[in-house]
Amino acid sequence: MPSVILQGSSRSDGNTRQIVDVLAPLLGADIINLKDLEIHHYDYKHRHQNDEFLPLIRRLVQDYDTFIFATPVYWYSMSGIMKVFFDRLSDCLQIEKDTGRKLRGKRMAAVCCGSEPMPTTAFFTPFQLSADYLGMTYLGDLHTWIEDGLETSVELSLKEFAKRIKTS
Ligand SMILES: Cc1cc2nc3c(=O)[nH]c(=O)nc-3n(C[C@H](O)[C@H](O)[C@H](O)COP(=O)(O)O)c2cc1C
Repeated sequence: MPSVILQGSSRSDGNTRQIVDVLAPLLGADIINLKDLEIHHYDYKHRHQNDEFLPLIRRLVQDYDTFIFATPVYWYSMSGIMKVFFDRLSDCLQIEKDTGRKLRGKRMAAVCCGSEPMPTTAFFTPFQLSADYLGMTYLGDLHTWIEDGLETSVELSLKEFAKRIKTS
């Protein structure tokens, strides 16, 4: 099943990217760096229909079955870049309903990268609830961290995580 990792860090080659670079080959997944795209904030008036969000979401529903969200932990939460992507999914409920409906039955997983081993409480709840709301199957999530390079235990947990996604 074609998988895509949506990378949502404020730096393209930072810690989250290191995690993504381990995960992508394990899953045979493509990588889309949300930072490379012009995606404006949701504004209720749909003034940003000509930015890169709608082409992206159309491409995602057409080409992929499994979406893996990869975000750093910023202030106990997902990055702003990733949150803007989620906010813009509201377009799929309002002006792009056909595309929104195509999300049903797709699969979602999420991975975060913080700076310490302790996971942030309820970090993944927005991902789980969003998957549920959109009719997507939530495959699971993984907290990772990078302090002084990638630790072996993190690499091992990424391998387990990839295996879980592939066999779900
Ligand atoms: C704005 C900001 C907020 C952060 N907040 C947290 C936090 O709440 N918890 C945490 O463990 N690390 C926090 N960190 C550290 C990052 O999560 C950590 O360094 C991460 O690996 C950075 O990934 P990146 O290189 O992809 O940005 C924060 C870093 C930044 C820049």
